[in-house]
Amino acid sequence: MNKELNVSNLEQRDQTAASERAQDHVQHDRLQSVIAELAAFGGRSDGGVSRETLTDNDLQARRYLIDLARSRGCSVTIDDCANLFFRRPGTSDLPPVLTGSHADTQPVGGKLDGAYGVLAGLEVIAALNDAGIETLRPVEVVAWTNEEGCRFGPGAMGSSAFVDPSCLPAYRNSVDAKGVRFGDALDLALQAVPDVPRRPMAEPMSACVELHIEQGPVLERALVSLGVVTGIQSVRWYRIQVTGTAGHAGTMPMGERVDAMAAAVGLAQQLYAYQAVEAGEKLRLTLGRWQVSPNSINTIPGAVEFTVDVRCVDEQVLVQFEAALNRITRAYSWAGQIEFESMFSRPPTHFPAAMLELIERACTRACSSASLAAPLRMTSGAFHDAMYLAEHCPTAMIFVPSKGGVSHNAAEETAPEELFLGVQALAYAVTSLANA
Ligand code: GLV
Ligand code: MN
Ligand code: MN
Repeated sequence: MNKELNVSNLEQRDQTAASERAQDHVQHDRLQSVIAELAAFGGRSDGGVSRETLTDNDLQARRYLIDLARSRGCSVTIDDCANLFFRRPGTSDLPPVLTGSHADTQPVGGKLDGAYGVLAGLEVIAALNDAGIETLRPVEVVAWTNEEGCRFGPGAMGSSAFVDPSCLPAYRNSVDAKGVRFGDALDLALQAVPDVPRRPMAEPMSACVELHIEQGPVLERALVSLGVVTGIQSVRWYRIQVTGTAGHAGTMPMGERVDAMAAAVGLAQQLYAYQAVEAGEKLRLTLGRWQVSPNSINTIPGAVEFTVDVRCVDEQVLVQFEAALNRITRAYSWAGQIEFESMFSRPPTHFPAAMLELIERACTRACSSASLAAPLRMTSGAFHDAMYLAEHCPTAMIFVPSKGGVSHNAAEETAPEELFLGVQALAYAVTSLANA
């Protein structure tokens, strides 16, 4: 055996030992207490969290995260889309390893969707500190802005603008239901943290790992505690605008109405029928947001706007759905108008094989130390910031189970031991990448 090979084997062993030590220094109770603390920002009496992006609750949560990261020795920076970065330096100034997720929630969400990934990253930093491990590369934990996309569309704004800053000017013009511009809310969020230095967007990253709750039933049904996420299914969002004529509910004869709600409901029935009859279970269809004008009990609706969210692992199914949407809206026969526009479209994401192997190793060690079943490879049904980061650097994701598959709901829950296990796997993966 030549000398060089021996040396590199030794280094390899040291690096594996560091990854294992980082994994073994993750603390269950420390993780649980920060999850409870962050959940208080926008916390609800039913156990859920209402912390839509850039609301006061979100700004207060961001301040909490800044203080927490600083207390763990991190420097904090922010970019033009208010993405927050918490950095633990490496022994060199090479591009960092990135982990984290988002801190915003649905209008009524749980305490784990996104928040878990950010707090998991800060727990990895605490574990590295406790284990006295110096990594070659810096480790950065990120809290992306507006992953949910429910207040300002589209979703995953922060991560997509980070990867492609040319998106930001159009995002700034996105308006919420109350008429607030994303750009104005963003400026207030930036002004709220004068102590946090600005950093450029699109900075090089050596790799990215996002840890997230599964938000579906696959892991729980398989009795498996960790998922190696191989990719993310494709998604498209549309806005359908139906315009009729408002009128008196008591006086206008039924046959003479141009009722926007009657047309919108008719369209919705045809879309559900297309899903059930033509596409089947592989197509997931959600008509989630409805706005009715003037929204009065005794006025015939003059205008109805509703959103369509469709997902499938096979993008062709979404191409066919779009053709059907076109057909159904054109063929609808009535005296009013129907228009639809695309709001968001993503092809499927596939994470690279080398990253999947590392994640599998990290998850396998965590599961076998706890005498649990081996991790499962699976596709993500939800989208995540990782889908944009995958365009920027080698990226992967780890999933932990969601009780009953429930998410985007106050009742969202994961067993504390499984949350702990996920962070253990993350610590191993991040440390390995930070020493590579
Ligand atoms: C993310 O929240 C998604 O809708 O998949
Ligand atoms: Mn999420
Ligand atoms: Mn979500």
